[in-house]
Amino acid sequence: MVKNSHKWFGVLLASAVLLTFLVTCFWSYGGERAKSVQRLNPIAAEIYRMISPSTYKYVLNQPHKCKERRPFLVLMVPVSPGERASRDAIRKTWGQEDLIPGVHLLRVFFVGLPTGEQGPTIQKDLERESLEHEDIVQMSFEDSYHNLTIKTMMMMNWLATSCQGASYAMKIDADIFLNVDYLVNKLLVPNSTRRNYITGSVIKDGHPRRDKNSKWYMPEDIFPEDSYPPYVSGAGYLFSADLGKKISMASRFVRPVPLEDIYVGLCLRVLGVQPVYAFSFTSMHNLFEIYHVKYQRCVYYQRVIVTGFQPDELLCIWHDFQKAKSTC
Ligand SMILES: *[C@@H]1O[C@H](CO)[C@@H](O)[C@H](O)[C@H]1NC(C)=O
Ligand SMILES: *[C@@H]1O[C@H](CO)[C@@H](O)[C@H](O)[C@H]1NC(C)=O
Repeated sequence: MVKNSHKWFGVLLASAVLLTFLVTCFWSYGGERAKSVQRLNPIAAEIYRMISPSTYKYVLNQPHKCKERRPFLVLMVPVSPGERASRDAIRKTWGQEDLIPGVHLLRVFFVGLPTGEQGPTIQKDLERESLEHEDIVQMSFEDSYHNLTIKTMMMMNWLATSCQGASYAMKIDADIFLNVDYLVNKLLVPNSTRRNYITGSVIKDGHPRRDKNSKWYMPEDIFPEDSYPPYVSGAGYLFSADLGKKISMASRFVRPVPLEDIYVGLCLRVLGVQPVYAFSFTSMHNLFEIYHVKYQRCVYYQRVIVTGFQPDELLCIWHDFQKAKSTC
């Protein structure tokens, strides 16, 4: 009997705790909802068409790449069709799929259509290169700086539809040094999975530039707000693969802006996902360095990315960087 009453008391206590928890959750959830309700209208169909991957067709695709094995990490690299040298440098350095023993890495380059007089020649070369390396995905929109948002949505969609088994993905520009070993073994726990996780160089106080000559110009009629929600710099950001589908879905509610990282930030706001800082307390540095830092083996060993590399520079430091693990 005494034992039984203990049991009942336990059940009662557990119920009370659960109830309090639920009420608190609904309370804050309701608050969040109320704030975002007026924003959550689907954008006009003709505007959504511009960024919707269903508007475009695959010219080149690698539909089997993810079917054969579930990648732990997919490295998604937007690059323009003519940048063969960058792709080759990446294939020989941080893009090697067997770089980390026992960890399945996947490398995919995303391109649009080449334009200009050289277009047809570039396309032919690209098709040959794709046969050789089987790592190029191409869709039928014009490849240009202003179309990078379309390209990012294409990458998210490819991840969601052709690579559902992946654990993590990283969007990373071609002119970047990536320390895959740090990324896989320190920032991520091998074999781990997370949800709603995105990290990189987080920008919390971004404001739209209204100067027409700026590379980051944002027209007021496209984005009238005075500040951007938190976002991760587009140079390189890492996320749990579930976000590919969620960001694709959120894009139905977010008017396209020409800056892709800000666009992803706006989608994250709709999803209620906060980007996470990647800061190392041992080296007191941002792990995702969005400024170029002069090469020093042991300094680079403590970073995940460093920006500002030409293909030959990347090849040049890579050999030396291999000694970091045993010397730093
Ligand atoms: C973006 O791609 C679309 C589809 O190919 C094209 O019509 C448009 O001109 C491109 N925009 C820019 C700014 O390149
Ligand atoms: C991760 O999983 C693979 C395959 O199941 C296993 O061989 C490997 O030892 C695991 N790694 C860690 C660090 O647990």
